[in-house]
Amino acid sequence: MTVQAVRVHRFTQPETLVVERVDPPASAGGVIVAVEVASVNPVDWKTAEGAYAPVGEAKLPITLGRDLAGTIETSEIEGWTPSDRVCAFIGQDRGAQATRVRVTAEEMTRIPDPVSTDIAGALPLAAMTAWQGLFDHGGLETGQRVLIHGAAGGVGHLAVQFARWKGCTVFATAAADDLDFVASLGADTVIDYRSQRFEDVATGLDLVFDTQGGETQARSFATLKPGGILVSTLDPDEARAAALGVRTVPRWHAQPDAVALGRVLDLVVEGAVRVEISRRFKLDAVEDAHRFARNDHPRGKVILVV
Ligand SMILES: NC(=O)c1ccc[n+]([C@@H]2O[C@H](COP(=O)([O-])OP(=O)(O)OC[C@H]3O[C@@H](n4cnc5c(N)ncnc54)[C@H](OP(=O)(O)O)[C@@H]3O)[C@@H](O)[C@H]2O)c1
Repeated sequence: MTVQAVRVHRFTQPETLVVERVDPPASAGGVIVAVEVASVNPVDWKTAEGAYAPVGEAKLPITLGRDLAGTIETSEIEGWTPSDRVCAFIGQDRGAQATRVRVTAEEMTRIPDPVSTDIAGALPLAAMTAWQGLFDHGGLETGQRVLIHGAAGGVGHLAVQFARWKGCTVFATAAADDLDFVASLGADTVIDYRSQRFEDVATGLDLVFDTQGGETQARSFATLKPGGILVSTLDPDEARAAALGVRTVPRWHAQPDAVALGRVLDLVVEGAVRVEISRRFKLDAVEDAHRFARNDHPRGKVILVV
């Protein structure tokens, strides 16, 4: 039996996506998940445009997507059985935007009963990026002052809530329409990135979480106190950081981490974190989903219902 998948056969700008039938995945020591929700992330269109370095031409054709939620159909892993509800951030050797996907033990986490499949599918990649950026790379500690750029976006809206949960003072940048939304997530000070200069408001910071790069990142270094750290989800300017006596982290990519993902799901259950889903699309409307995510300024996440 074949499976349906979102495929990229050649890199184009903008991206060209094909929803087609492909061979089913072999379980190969993992589980096969019947996918119910896969999320849409900027890495999807960067990959499809040939702008994501780890996926070069030699890897085409590929299935897109890095995170999902669904139900285990078959299992070769002890302790995991058919009908278990799971979510996962999977390696880039596979794609999550398909009806069936192989998942390994290190990648998946059980979905707690109160958490919907939509929320669990929207969460993994964005949550691991925010979590690893703030805590693993940035070493964020209780009581610190942090600035989060792009705070209404998929990664940013979770980063604001993680920093708030950690007991930090949170400054956040967002578009004018999103200021109330970001304040409702727990940011202490929300700054309109178009009409205000964030560096006039956010000063003496321990950590900047940069999801924008470019000019926003360049201006952000001045907001850090001596020895403070800028963690970017894009390319950090290490030379500038060194010249200014602040720290940064070399280019990194979020990694699957089933334990940390479980911790985040617990926070969702406890009510400390909520996941905003801007819009749901059917799998075969994936091109519309990309256009919406890229052009229509969604809040939080966009998901595909498979
Ligand atoms: N290194 C990694 O492992 C990793 C992992 C995940 C994501 N990323 C990268 O991180 C970036 C963010 O990802 P995402 O999923 O959060 O994207 P997203 O959902 O598209 O969110 C981006 C947010 O940034 C806002 N924004 C645009 N220009 C801004 C500015 N000048 N100042 C402040 N905010 C601004 C957007 O607001 P508007 O509504 O105004 O457009 C939007 O809310 C992407 O480039 C992605 O590729 C890297």
